[in-house]
Amino acid sequence: HGAMRLAIRARARAGNPDAEVLLDPAVREDPFAHYERLRTAAPFAGGAFARVSVHHDVCTDVLRSDDFGQIGGNRTEGMPPLLRTALRLAGPRPSTGPIDPPSMLAVDPPEHTRYRRLVSRAFSARAVARLRERTRQIADELLDGLEREAAADGGHADLVARYASLLPVTVISEVLGVPVAMREQFLAWGDGASPSLDMGVGWRTHRSVERNLGELDTWFRGHVRRLRRAPGEDLLSALVAMADDDGSGLTEQELLSTALLVLGAGFETTVNLIGNGAAQLFAHPDQRRLLAEDPSLWPNAVDEVLRVDSPVQRTGRRVTRDTTVHGVPLREGDLVLLVLAAANRDPRVFRDPHVFDVTRANARDHVAFSSGIHFCLGAALARMEGEVALRALFERFPDLAAAGAGHRRRTVVLRGYESLPVVLTAQT
Ligand code: HEM
Repeated sequence: HGAMRLAIRARARAGNPDAEVLLDPAVREDPFAHYERLRTAAPFAGGAFARVSVHHDVCTDVLRSDDFGQIGGNRTEGMPPLLRTALRLAGPRPSTGPIDPPSMLAVDPPEHTRYRRLVSRAFSARAVARLRERTRQIADELLDGLEREAAADGGHADLVARYASLLPVTVISEVLGVPVAMREQFLAWGDGASPSLDMGVGWRTHRSVERNLGELDTWFRGHVRRLRRAPGEDLLSALVAMADDDGSGLTEQELLSTALLVLGAGFETTVNLIGNGAAQLFAHPDQRRLLAEDPSLWPNAVDEVLRVDSPVQRTGRRVTRDTTVHGVPLREGDLVLLVLAAANRDPRVFRDPHVFDVTRANARDHVAFSSGIHFCLGAALARMEGEVALRALFERFPDLAAAGAGHRRRTVVLRGYESLPVVLTAQT
């Protein structure tokens, strides 16, 4: 494992030494200083295996260009060559995960357009508005639980385990129509599979990712069989009704990857928004005061959290035909990494970019949800959940405080907290 990491570092150093940040889990506590070192290189810093951009305009231009396509869920990218070869020889993978083709996130038009259209209505602004009240109810119930737990433990509780992680998975389970009783299991599978977004993971992590995806896949196939016999009123039942394998609707595999993507994307990211948001507000009591005085600032505060501590730190694209970006010629097949979290701190777009300011006028100009045709399908849902969750939390417990430092997740692309210890009130 250690040898592999060294090999990855050596390969990264062969390009721009700072591009190593994109592979090394050790920088996950504070990647922003490393991103800044890449900022002088424009439009790209050259890594060993990919060009890297931290610039808002370059990221946006690439994401909106027809000359780039999705990398296609290629999990072996950035792995040592020997491991890549071994995995290739091992043959096709037994299960399909949420970011493998034919997931909409992994494919280009025309397939992308078709898959996305099938589910987009369920996540429109209007559909999300209808979910707000239920989300608030879920938040209140979870906060009851948090309070009970804290009461039994001198006021202490873990905000991520008892609240931030549970809210999004509950909401998306209800929307999709998968049993909410499964939510802890979904979280465990999601947690096991999430390093698959990172590049250059080692053999043991790779195996654990595969095992988790395999179990999730098996459960989902069983659930779809049950829905065929007894459909409900939910999104998944509607998709199942469209799946017929004769070419007109979704094939079974398309159905599965669409459902898995929506489920996974629905909770793996929003938990980080809520956790990162709470941490920012603990660290900035002045901003917290502004929100208490003027709750209409909450939606903007959520975008400011997305900007300053982006739950998805980066994405990537492959050049699909020779092209030029900001004067730099790129060849078909070239790999480009777009550091969304760094673009969100581009000083040419955001004044005092490292400052957390809930009143920032252009907070919404961030690219935390990406841009172009793959712009996050769940952006309206995520914003609503983030706002409802954070506001309910801080209004119910005005004295809520951090109890020690939280622990960051081990993943690099997904940035958030694994645990965030809090104390609810000063105990009397
Ligand atoms: C795509 C971020 C929440 C569903 C994306 C992408 C990003 C992103 C960056 C595009 C990646 C790329 O361009 O390569 C986030 C963040 C979230 C969040 C930061 C929370 C704070 C959600 C939720 C859902 C969701 C709640 C639930 C439906 C999706 C789907 C795609 C996507 C289906 C693929 C869209 C496509 O390929 O056309 N998200 N997401 N996301 N997201 Fe989210």
